[in-house]
Amino acid sequence: MSKRYTLTAALPYTNGPIHIGHLAGVYVPADIYARYLRLRGKEVLFICGSDEHGVAISMKAKKEGITPQEVIDTYHHLIKDSFEAFGISFDYYGRTSSEVHRETAQEFFKQLHENDCFETQTTNQLYDAKEDQFLADRYVVGTCPKCQHNEAYGDQCEACGSSLNATDLIEPKSALSGETPSMKETTHWYLPLDRYEAFLRTWILEGHKDDWKTNVLGQVKSWLDDGLKPRAVTRDLSWGIPVPVPGGENKVLYVWFDAPIGYISATKEWATKTGNDWKPYWQDNDTELVHFIGKDNIVFHCIIFPAILKAMGSYILPKNVPANEFLNLEGQKLSTSKNWAVWLHEYLEEFPNKQDVLRYVLTANAPETKDNDFTWADFQTRNNSELVAIFGNFVNRVMVLMRKYYDSEVPTPNTNSKEDSEILKALSEAPKRISDLLESYKFRAASQEMMQLARMGNKYLADEEPWKLIKTNPERVATIMYTAIQLVAGLAIVSEPFLPHTAEKLRKMLKLDPTTGWENVNKLPLILAKHSLGEASLLFEKIEDGAIETQQAKLIP
Ligand code: MF3
Ligand code: ZN
Repeated sequence: MSKRYTLTAALPYTNGPIHIGHLAGVYVPADIYARYLRLRGKEVLFICGSDEHGVAISMKAKKEGITPQEVIDTYHHLIKDSFEAFGISFDYYGRTSSEVHRETAQEFFKQLHENDCFETQTTNQLYDAKEDQFLADRYVVGTCPKCQHNEAYGDQCEACGSSLNATDLIEPKSALSGETPSMKETTHWYLPLDRYEAFLRTWILEGHKDDWKTNVLGQVKSWLDDGLKPRAVTRDLSWGIPVPVPGGENKVLYVWFDAPIGYISATKEWATKTGNDWKPYWQDNDTELVHFIGKDNIVFHCIIFPAILKAMGSYILPKNVPANEFLNLEGQKLSTSKNWAVWLHEYLEEFPNKQDVLRYVLTANAPETKDNDFTWADFQTRNNSELVAIFGNFVNRVMVLMRKYYDSEVPTPNTNSKEDSEILKALSEAPKRISDLLESYKFRAASQEMMQLARMGNKYLADEEPWKLIKTNPERVATIMYTAIQLVAGLAIVSEPFLPHTAEKLRKMLKLDPTTGWENVNKLPLILAKHSLGEASLLFEKIEDGAIETQQAKLIP
């Protein structure tokens, strides 16, 4: 394992609230990984923040008749609060409208400009004469030349995932006025991606063919096989970071040029605030950089940003980019405009204190290798039949019996039976199994290993029936309960990355020594005889049909 980890989670656009798709694809897996590494005692910096430039934001402002600044201020706080409520444990949550970010992004641009890493091109671009506005990115919609989808944007078709230039669109229309655009000449700076083809091929397709996800390798290969072309990194817009070189008047940096640099500027702000040095996190080869993103961000994190980092010279490249596929909702694509989504701020109001339930359901059903579906029925089943009936039930039974038989003081065990030894062996081997899965970004499978421990505990109690033996063989019951409480303590530790709120509650209930960590689980016992346990409380509660029906009804268009 590396000395230090820089983990980034895609900076969400602040043009609207976030929904379960964001959580499932990016933030929950990133948080599981960050928490896991911290539990292993690693030096971790987990960075995110708001992506506050780009046409999506100025369009939203225009539509609502407010300023872009008002849009970003509203959603920056809403999104940040949702992350906090779900226990997404960022070390720093920045925003790309900050001063430090503007300076950092401009420094990148200036250095690349001075080192001749750009080309300029003067071309005819789509122009809306009525609005006096060049039309790039989301300011223009038209038919995708690759898949014929008729709502493709000027930079990307969301139906087939192709990256486009505005001038590629068939029958383009201005998203501002609805008019057919005219053409007007303009000059822009381009990043000649073609110069990086060989480097990208060697670094990713050869160097990482065994450790990167196949969906990521597949996209990278298809980009490289199509041949990379120079890509404009400036725009004729007013909302964004001013282009800091001569000729850049009235132009801003392309949002996808500045946004990933936001990871670095957020690191600088974190470092200033905490009295650390930011450089090792981005420039030391002993640092493992991992970008958590959704599949629509692959090209930016595997091709464009690495090309920029490479051109800058002194930066490290990502060790992995474990991009997820998409989550659907009740069989349909999540859509902000069609309001087909489960918004996090609404979930938090409707299911207060059930953050871990959603985290669990989204992990157990994560879109890791293919698109996946979230259904409210599945949410209810995972809660009622797994969290309540398995995890919660096991913990509760052990706590209740401990109190009833021993007044909550852990008994001294006698000789282990074959069954007890098997339980302890399985428990002590669980951290390694879970680690291996987490370290290969298989969060779904890892969450099921964790649940498997609770399932094993339930079965153990059902087989051993301490409630029947307590009258006839109290010595045996002492051993059973001692064994069972080790398993509960093990769950308090290994569940932490997945269910942080539950794990904290459980640690308090057990009065677990705060220094007990991941490594202790392979060196049992975790709790000694005579240890006095705290008050038990319920970890999960059943979700009734009514609550589910209310959610399903909200989705009927
Ligand atoms: N805002 C982008 C999106 O939501 C993600 C930006 S990631 C960054 O798709 F790297 F650019 F920051
Ligand atoms: Zn398309």
